[in-house]
Amino acid sequence: MVHHMSPAEPVLHICADLEEASLEVARKIVELAQTAVATSGQFSIVLSGGNTPRRLHEVLATDYRDAVPWADTHVFWGDERWVAHDHPDSNFRMADETLLRHVPIPTGQVHPMPTQLDDPEVAADAYQTQLAELFEGKLPRFDLLLLGMGSDGHTASLFPTSAALTEATAWVMPSEAPSEPRQRLTLTLPVLNNAACVVFLISGSDKRTPMAMALDSTTDPAICPAAAVRPHSGQLHFYVDRAASPA
Ligand code: 6PG
Repeated sequence: MVHHMSPAEPVLHICADLEEASLEVARKIVELAQTAVATSGQFSIVLSGGNTPRRLHEVLATDYRDAVPWADTHVFWGDERWVAHDHPDSNFRMADETLLRHVPIPTGQVHPMPTQLDDPEVAADAYQTQLAELFEGKLPRFDLLLLGMGSDGHTASLFPTSAALTEATAWVMPSEAPSEPRQRLTLTLPVLNNAACVVFLISGSDKRTPMAMALDSTTDPAICPAAAVRPHSGQLHFYVDRAASPA
């Protein structure tokens, strides 16, 4: 029986720059991975897309390569652009190039969102079915869920105007981005907020305003979706560089 504690207060880690933040998050991942494997025999991690995680991925593939229990790790995505996995905009491709092809993770433990299927609705349902199989039909509780944040406060592909932002039952939904590629797939808030640990990695002065809003629990998620990420029985950490940290 999971006792739903009150949503965790965000823990803010202000780092000098993205390099330091990436190293700090890598250390957090190693700690969580080793604890999860010792406790349950496996570690489930959700990757975010965009550009900010690139350096983190490189660090995990080099400095910390041997510290992560890759043989017992399962990798998922929080969102994906509706493009082929070899497309330059693909979140899978970015993670594969910067991390996955450099570490000994069994292929069957890498779970990309299936953008090769006929349409986004079919793909969202298929990913939800895959998650249900891996989490024995229960709402997935990821050991670690990595998120970024856009300058408009979006996270994963939950944009201020997305219907996916207010979805209360589906775990995976199509969503529409304001920038190309507009068609996306995203995990929804019920899944994000069921995670054992959520880690935001945020960098850059263009994120300073949404960062302050995301930390403020009174912020309307329709204005800053990241403010709606409050794991109900898990940890919440923001690793930000000085440029993105609230003044
Ligand atoms: C995506 C991401 C998205 C990303 C933010 C920040 O598919 O684009 O998952 O949520 O985290 O847009 O992107 P940057 O790190 O490139 O600023």
